[in-house]
Amino acid sequence: MELSNYGKLLSTQELLEAQAHVWNHIFNFINSMSLKCAVQLNIPDIIHKHGKPIKLSELVNALLPMNHPTKSQSIYRLMRILVHSKFFIKVKINDEEGYWLTPASHLLLRDEPSSMAPFLLAMLEPVMTDPLHCLSEWFQSEHEATFSMAHGMTFWEYAKQEPKLNHFFNEAMASDARLVSGIIVKDCKQVFYGINSLVDVAGGTGTVAKAIATAFPGINCTVLDLPHVVAGLEGSEINLTYVGGNMFESIPPADAVLLKWALECWNDEECVKILKKCKEAIPDKEKGGKVIIIDMVVDETNVDDKAIETQLFFDIMLMIYITGRERTEKEWAKLFIDAGFTTYKITPALGLRSVIEVFP
Ligand SMILES: C[S@@+](CC[C@H](N)C(=O)[O-])C[C@H]1O[C@@H](n2cnc3c(N)ncnc32)[C@H](O)[C@@H]1O
Repeated sequence: MELSNYGKLLSTQELLEAQAHVWNHIFNFINSMSLKCAVQLNIPDIIHKHGKPIKLSELVNALLPMNHPTKSQSIYRLMRILVHSKFFIKVKINDEEGYWLTPASHLLLRDEPSSMAPFLLAMLEPVMTDPLHCLSEWFQSEHEATFSMAHGMTFWEYAKQEPKLNHFFNEAMASDARLVSGIIVKDCKQVFYGINSLVDVAGGTGTVAKAIATAFPGINCTVLDLPHVVAGLEGSEINLTYVGGNMFESIPPADAVLLKWALECWNDEECVKILKKCKEAIPDKEKGGKVIIIDMVVDETNVDDKAIETQLFFDIMLMIYITGRERTEKEWAKLFIDAGFTTYKITPALGLRSVIEVFP
C-alpha cells in the first residue's frame, strides 16, 4: 500500500509512526480504566498504609487473599502500566520489584482531604462514559448534549432524579473544591480583601464558601445552588448560609459573586444571562463590587502539550455532558463585555485554571 502526504510518499518510518500513533489513541482509554481499577482496588491506600515501598508479593497478598498465580502476574502488568503513566515508582527491594507513590497517586488516597478519587470515580462511572459512544450520532442530531441523547434527559435533570448521580457528582465537586479552596485562601488572599459579603453561585455543597468563611471571618458567605443540592445543608459557621434557587432567576445581593466551575457549564448566551444577574447582585466597582471566576483560560499557544491537551479534554467533556465549553481569553472578554462589565484581571494561580476578577 502506498500512502502519501500532500503528494509525497510516506517513508516506512513515517508509516509505522503513524500506525503507532493511531494505536496509541485507540487504546488511550486503557490509561483511564487502569487507573480507575487501581483506585477501586485501593492500591494507593495499601501502599500508603504500608508506610514504605511495597514488594510486588506483599501487594499481591494484600489484594488477592486467595493465592491465584495468573492474577498475580496480572497485578504486575497493571502496576507496570501505572508505573509507565507515572502513578507509581518502581523500586528494588531485596532483589524483588516494589512500588512507591508519586505526587499523582498521593492525590488518589481515599482519606486525603484533597483526594481526587471521588472525581475520578464519578467521571468514569458508566452513566458518564456511555454517552461517548453516541458522539458521532449526536453531531447529526437535534440534541443539545450527548448526555441527554443517551439518557433521555439533561445532566441536571438526571442529577435531580437520581440521588446516586446527585451524590457522586456533588462529592466529586466537593473533592475538587477542597483542593482549590486550600490554595485560594492561602495564595490568593488579596482577591478577598475589602469584601464584606460573598455569594458562591452554583457553589455545590459549599466547600469553597466554608473555607472562605473560615479564613475570612469578616466575610458573610452565602451558597446558592439548586434546591436538591443544598437540601438539608446548614451553615455551621455564623457567617455561612445556604440558599436553594436558580441563578438564572435571582442571585442574593453581595459585594462579590464567586463562580467556580460554574460558567464553563453553560453556552455563551446562558453565561451572559448569568453574568447579568451577577451584575444586578453586586454594587458598583467604586463600592468594591466584583465577580470572581475560577475556570480555565485556554491558551492554544501553550507549549506544554499535556496542559493544553487536558484543557481540550475538559472542553469535550463539557460538550458531551452539558451545554458548556472551555474558553480562551478573547472568548471570556466577549462574555464580560456582552454582560455589561468594564474590566477584568486574570491571575493564573491554579495550574490549568485561573482566577478571573471581573468589574462592573
Ligand atoms: C460543575 S458544578 C460546580 C460546583 C462548585 N462551584 C464547585 O466548583 O465545586 C456546577 C454546579 O452548578 C449547579 N447548578 C446547575 N444549574 C444551576 C442553576 N440553575 N442555579 C444554581 N445552580 C445551578 C449544579 O447543581 C452544580 O452544583
